[in-house]
Amino acid sequence: MDMVPASAEPLLHPEQCQLRPSDHRRWWVLVAAALLLMLLVTVGPLRPMLFGVPQSEPVALILLTAAQEKGAVCLDGTPPGYHLQRGSGDSSSSWHIHLQGGGWCGTVNDCSNCRMSDLGSSKFMKPIQFTGAGILSSDHLQNPDFYNWNKAYVRYCDGASFSGDAEGQAEDGTILHFRGLRIYQAVIDELMEKGLANATQAILTGCSAGGLATFVHCDDFSARFSHKVSVKCLVDAGFILDVKDISGQRSFRSLYGGVVHLQNVRQVLPKDCLTNKEPTECFFPAELIKSIHTPMFIVNSGYDPAQIRNVIVPASSAPDKSWLSCKDNIRNCNSTQIDVLDGLRTTMADALKVVKDKEDWGFFIDSCFTHCQMVLDVSWNSHNSPRLGNKTVAEAVGDWHHGRTQGVKEVDCKYPCNPTCNSQSPL
Ligand SMILES: *[C@@H]1O[C@H](CO)[C@@H](O)[C@H](O)[C@H]1NC(C)=O
Ligand SMILES: *[C@@H]1O[C@H](CO)[C@@H](O)[C@H](O)[C@H]1NC(C)=O
Ligand SMILES: *[C@@H]1O[C@H](CO)[C@@H](O)[C@H](O)[C@H]1NC(C)=O
Repeated sequence: MDMVPASAEPLLHPEQCQLRPSDHRRWWVLVAAALLLMLLVTVGPLRPMLFGVPQSEPVALILLTAAQEKGAVCLDGTPPGYHLQRGSGDSSSSWHIHLQGGGWCGTVNDCSNCRMSDLGSSKFMKPIQFTGAGILSSDHLQNPDFYNWNKAYVRYCDGASFSGDAEGQAEDGTILHFRGLRIYQAVIDELMEKGLANATQAILTGCSAGGLATFVHCDDFSARFSHKVSVKCLVDAGFILDVKDISGQRSFRSLYGGVVHLQNVRQVLPKDCLTNKEPTECFFPAELIKSIHTPMFIVNSGYDPAQIRNVIVPASSAPDKSWLSCKDNIRNCNSTQIDVLDGLRTTMADALKVVKDKEDWGFFIDSCFTHCQMVLDVSWNSHNSPRLGNKTVAEAVGDWHHGRTQGVKEVDCKYPCNPTCNSQSPL
């Protein structure tokens, strides 16, 4: 797996959506590497080698052309889209809705650039594979609890976690559409018509920026069903912390503030929070979870490389080269650096204390250097996946979802204590 980041790099579109200009390359290497890995594992040559299972058909893209009238459009004005695979057997009325992630754009320039990729325009979207993709997989061995559910994979093309509602103007005079909230609503409306309305159980999931979207929309999603329906939410690698970087600046909060203001995400933020905090602070999960009533499970690495690179040690905070190799691979960090990075895990543990009393909730905070563990078989449920309390992510999520045991609420010990992290790629 070590080859993936390197081979992903040449495929990077130079003008993709950016988290921040200076860390553009790193963020995109990460996202593109994850996507490429998913692609290689699902459609590519790695699939038979790794799994020995024949690949399945790609899942077609469905464009929401009718939603254009309601203003539900991608950044460039094209219709948004999703992929739908029907469920079967005893799960034909169980629904899994997954919100795609892929960074954020918080400046006119960054959002303009997004339009040149599938993260800002459906012109670039293609069919996708669910095979090998962890919780989306149809293989019952890899994905025993959700394999035969109806699965909708909702494409991310607004740059603000399906949460904005505004309009802007690019430097070339064209309109930039910030309509993530409308996209989310239009997709759910359409899925309702396609059978979601009759679901007996439903789960909303998302990873990274899609995980943030899941926090934001979880209660709204749940409110669309009657009380008899079991509705839950699962977030992976979306527990982004509002902490200072190593130079003492809240650099990530200011970038995030760009997203909140440019794209006008205020509407989706919890009212309680807005009465005494700035909107930007209320867009962080530690605040969002305080008002969520729907049962939720939170998966995150306490050493998530995306947060290490963008929140704790962004390029602006470490202008010399001393952190580069450590940010690249946690194995290169010295003990002082590990102590600093460990602040992420301990702050996360503190922020999750409010969850301790929430009965139907759970969390799985492992100490592996990994981002988005539920959308790849290798980190979701394979023999060398990370384990916490001897459970894989899939087992912990399955137990929580089906109420088989008391849900896991566990934070791993300090890196490098967990031997099951050894197999992790340096992603
Ligand atoms: C839901 O179930 C009812 C009753 O079986 C049926 O009439 C209706 O068409 C179904 N709706 C959807 C969206 O499948
Ligand atoms: C670890 O690396 C940093 C940055 O190069 C350095 O400042 C620090 O002294 C090192 N600590 C140890 C224990 O080697
Ligand atoms: C851990 O789980 C595996 C597979 O689920 C099982 O075979 C093994 O016995 C468990 N180990 C311990 C120490 O419980």
